[in-house]
Amino acid sequence: MVRNATSVAMLDATSCLHLLMQIAFFDLQFHYIPKLSLVGISFLSKSIDYFHALPFLCFFIFCCRLSGLIVDIFGDEAVVASSAAWVEKYKQKIKDCIGRINNINNVTWRPSTEILKEEGLDFSDSAFVESSNSSRMVKVVENGISYLISLEGQKTGFYADQRDNRKLISSISEGQKILDIFCYTGGFALNAACGGALSVTGVDSSLPALEIANENIVLNGLDPGRISFLRQDATEFMKNAITKGESWDIVILDPPKLAPRRKVLQSASGMYRNLNSLAMQITRRGGLLMTCSCSGAMTQSGTFLRVLQGAAQMAEKKITVIRQAGAACDHPIDPSYPEGAYLSNILLRVL
Ligand SMILES: C[S@@+](CC[C@H](N)C(=O)[O-])C[C@H]1O[C@@H](n2cnc3c(N)ncnc32)[C@H](O)[C@@H]1O
Repeated sequence: MVRNATSVAMLDATSCLHLLMQIAFFDLQFHYIPKLSLVGISFLSKSIDYFHALPFLCFFIFCCRLSGLIVDIFGDEAVVASSAAWVEKYKQKIKDCIGRINNINNVTWRPSTEILKEEGLDFSDSAFVESSNSSRMVKVVENGISYLISLEGQKTGFYADQRDNRKLISSISEGQKILDIFCYTGGFALNAACGGALSVTGVDSSLPALEIANENIVLNGLDPGRISFLRQDATEFMKNAITKGESWDIVILDPPKLAPRRKVLQSASGMYRNLNSLAMQITRRGGLLMTCSCSGAMTQSGTFLRVLQGAAQMAEKKITVIRQAGAACDHPIDPSYPEGAYLSNILLRVL
């Protein structure tokens, strides 16, 4: 079912705060909460932008140590990504709390079964198995752009953390030729097209994601002659482009999490270096490369810029850093919990 975004209203900040206080201080017992990965809660609504998001900051500050719990709110739908045993243990309580927020009509539960198995949970137990309505779609508006979101899609269905970085791309795209590698449902590409780009190409290996990306072109009334999506392996695409001598004014490179654990950081660094080296070779001289890592291990190691410098040497390019950013403002970081910082978004000029 596709919900009309016009029925979506902003959430009431007071009830959000109340929810978090309940989860953090009363309903849950913190000694059960292991020190694990990340947590973020994001809101998308008909009209959310930076200023609308600000009232929620106080709310998120309370939650940014609830590791293993992500709640993204798409209009009247809350999607919970669970990746810690304590989240599963308090599933019903968390659902009840979220269900009490004004305007939330449904809570979709998305357990990361592989991670939870590592935490010792047994998924053969029918208590963990939840019936899901496989074709559920919602429609939201972010930065003035409409998106269809599949609640069965990657992460929670949408990468809400890149919202501010997508907006930046929209503001610098006019008249430019843009390439969005690892485009998923077209987030950066659609922003570039709406920002007046001359031409936009998105590349991803996921067919379901690209089907939605194509629907998003239509949804936003964009000219399919100016924006298109291609299903291909990213490395293969970039190597072919190098062979053909093709280049773009702005390249966005947002790969999946290549270092899910600190143990594999070294090998992942090699993968990041190779991908970035290829991306630099197809960025026109003087053009821009927005390169990302959503691996907490990479971001927290503080070595991403060194990896990028290695990539530049491999590509025989010079790079300068124009901007260093992370996740959008509804993903706050508690200084006493640096593990909460996972996303790196670096804008480079490539010479
Ligand atoms: C972090 S997500 C990108 C999010 C996107 N930039 C956005 O703003 O919505 C990473 C994407 O990489 C894609 N992917 C994974 N491996 C790939 C490969 N070898 N070639 C192309 N795409 C790949 C996934 O399907 C996923 O859509």
